[in-house]
Amino acid sequence: MEDPENQVLDIIELVLTAHIYNDFDQLDENDLPPRIRKNYWNSKERRVDRPIIISENAVDRIYEIPHAWRLIKTLPFVVFEEFGARINLTVLDLAAKWFATQDSLSRINQNPALAFYYSRNDSLDVDYEQVRRLNKPKEMDREWIFSLIDEIAGEGEEAEDMLKLVAISAPEDVRESLDKLVLTQEQIDEIEKVVKAIQYRDYLREIELFEIGKLLFVGPPGTGKTSVARALSKELGLPFLEVRLSMVTSQYLGETSKNIGKVFALAKRLNPCILFIDEFDYVAKTRLSDEHGAIKRAVNMLLKSIDDISLVDDGVLMIGATNHPSLLDSAAWRRFDKIVPFPLPDAAMRKEIFEKITARIKGTFDTQKLAEMTDQCTGSDLRLILREAVLKALFEDRTDLTQNDLEEAVSNFSKRFELKMSEYENI
Ligand SMILES: Nc1ncnc2c1ncn2[C@@H]1O[C@H](COP(=O)(O)OP(=O)(O)O)[C@@H](O)[C@H]1O
Ligand SMILES: [Mg+2]
Repeated sequence: MEDPENQVLDIIELVLTAHIYNDFDQLDENDLPPRIRKNYWNSKERRVDRPIIISENAVDRIYEIPHAWRLIKTLPFVVFEEFGARINLTVLDLAAKWFATQDSLSRINQNPALAFYYSRNDSLDVDYEQVRRLNKPKEMDREWIFSLIDEIAGEGEEAEDMLKLVAISAPEDVRESLDKLVLTQEQIDEIEKVVKAIQYRDYLREIELFEIGKLLFVGPPGTGKTSVARALSKELGLPFLEVRLSMVTSQYLGETSKNIGKVFALAKRLNPCILFIDEFDYVAKTRLSDEHGAIKRAVNMLLKSIDDISLVDDGVLMIGATNHPSLLDSAAWRRFDKIVPFPLPDAAMRKEIFEKITARIKGTFDTQKLAEMTDQCTGSDLRLILREAVLKALFEDRTDLTQNDLEEAVSNFSKRFELKMSEYENI
């Protein structure tokens, strides 16, 4: 639990923020720290209504501090309204002066509403514009994303069908992160370029450079394509829309192409966001077979939608992924402005992957040796090897791990790997 002094500061920060937000019309949702904003989010109207009211329940929900009033009742500038258990400020100025003397500068520098107030009324060294820029905007909150989706779903059954084609997650709910992945230099460079392109979107529009923001990740299964795309969502704070092309056929076919159009429309409305299209080779497969006219129409719709969307204009970063580049035809290739290879990791990368995935596990390991033993393995294979080793140790009630556990798991894995390969040969 937090110490009581910090709890008092939490409560007073909240009361001050609410008071300032209520008083100054020029402040908007992006002046509120996400924690506070989320609690007062009106998902129907997609905004935070004024006035923000501070009840003991609200303090408990936001900071898990029950009975807030007990902690702050000796302060001279707060009053308690028994009815509704509300906390109010008597004099804003007095409260603000007291707060500023409480070693609260780092709080103010993370709270645009406070920074706004102090930059006008105090000698504190705060830069409101900067604090607001650094505050996570409302578009990153899952509350914002899902209230927008609710609104769209409310637009009828068709909208609901469209939502079956696409899985949406908020950046704060994404578990993958770039620092847990081992990337090639080329991958790192491409990511860096995309980050810059998003940052300089206005400039790119000005010079009419639109050929950026459509990436195709190409490589065998388990080399990190999906993980990198998701990690980018977290890193850049962009909602993640994932389209599964195999879903395109499992839908009622007549509606599919319409729904694809709607997925892209949704991406434009959620902008900026990442639209991830997995199994991209599926496009080519359907063009080869001519069984279903409806599937072809859907695929053509997809290609046309890709042409019509842009990072610079629409704020949509599009990432395709494929395990089977040989299946792609030129019509599919030319829609992407950058192909990013996801090769099998070399020994140095495998060593680094082993280091990352064992970082939280008790024991010392010869990762160099493990890397040498796992030629041809993907990152995903290495995780499976670790999983086997950990489960085996747990079976013996051990939460530490030995080099031997890992080496055994590697050789069991190789046996299975050979089985799998011979299976392929028989097909
Ligand atoms: N280069 C890598 N570094 C670290 N982990 C990796 C790497 N490649 C794959 N993995 C791990 O393997 C798993 C599967 O990867 P995934 O992104 O689904 O591969 P793909 O989409 O290419 O099939 C994930 O848990 C991921 O963390
Ligand atoms: Mg994948």
